[in-house]
Amino acid sequence: MKKLFLLMIAIAIYIPTAMAGDFLGLFPRHKGVKPVSNITYSQSCAECHFAYQPGLLPKRSWQKLMEPKQLEDHFGENAELPEKDRIAVLQFLLDNAADTTIRYKRSIKISRSLADDEAPLRITEVPYIKKKHEEIPRKMIQDNRQVRSLSYCNKCHTQAAKGVFDDDTVDIPNFPDWDDLID
Ligand code: HEC
Ligand code: HEC
Repeated sequence: MKKLFLLMIAIAIYIPTAMAGDFLGLFPRHKGVKPVSNITYSQSCAECHFAYQPGLLPKRSWQKLMEPKQLEDHFGENAELPEKDRIAVLQFLLDNAADTTIRYKRSIKISRSLADDEAPLRITEVPYIKKKHEEIPRKMIQDNRQVRSLSYCNKCHTQAAKGVFDDDTVDIPNFPDWDDLID
């Protein structure tokens, strides 16, 4: 009887604590990265590729990428913005960067795979992301007319716009059976 009583007390304490942890954001609750929620950002940065979620790179990377000089020559393109928009976009990126969240598992993994002084300008150069794709042959990426570069995440990750990158949501154009061809 006493044992049962103790067990009930334990449960009564445990459940609210676990729920409070959830509300306070103490545990990673989401598998992916946080979806984009800023109109200035989507309007400024989704013209040439989909709007990469801020949680795909750490703050120090966004800081570098968003410098005016850097935007002028953005991977060979001009991605300059009016100063007001540049500041707004940068702020949104910094507030939601990979190293600001403890709730999105994918961002945590990205962040952890980088040394403190590493600030890649590309998501595709983040060790965690690089490793996940190292087995995919050229013919499925560069030589695949409907993909062309690993940078176009959403060509293969059908839910990329929602921040979901699980391998069971991948569909490589022209390679419906990719899963049997890799590994
Ligand atoms: C005028 C076209 C254009 C605009 C506008 C643009 N980008 Fe890009 N972006 C590119 C190109 C081209 C690449 C390189 C793609 C490749 O290597 O295949 C790129 C690559 C990137 C990458 C690296 C992707 C990788 O390879 O991991 C990031 C991050 C990025 N852009 C962020 C932004 C942000 C933030 C903005 C808004 C300020 C922006 N881009 C606006 C053309 C653009
Ligand atoms: C050519 C198609 C293709 C492109 C483009 C691509 N991926 Fe992937 N990605 C894959 C495949 C295939 C896998 C699964 C690899 C495996 O299971 O061996 C994967 C795996 C992943 C994983 C791990 C998923 C898991 O369940 O473990 C993440 C995260 C990821 N990709 C993110 C990205 C991001 C971010 C980009 C863009 C910068 C991107 N991918 C571009 C095909 C692609």
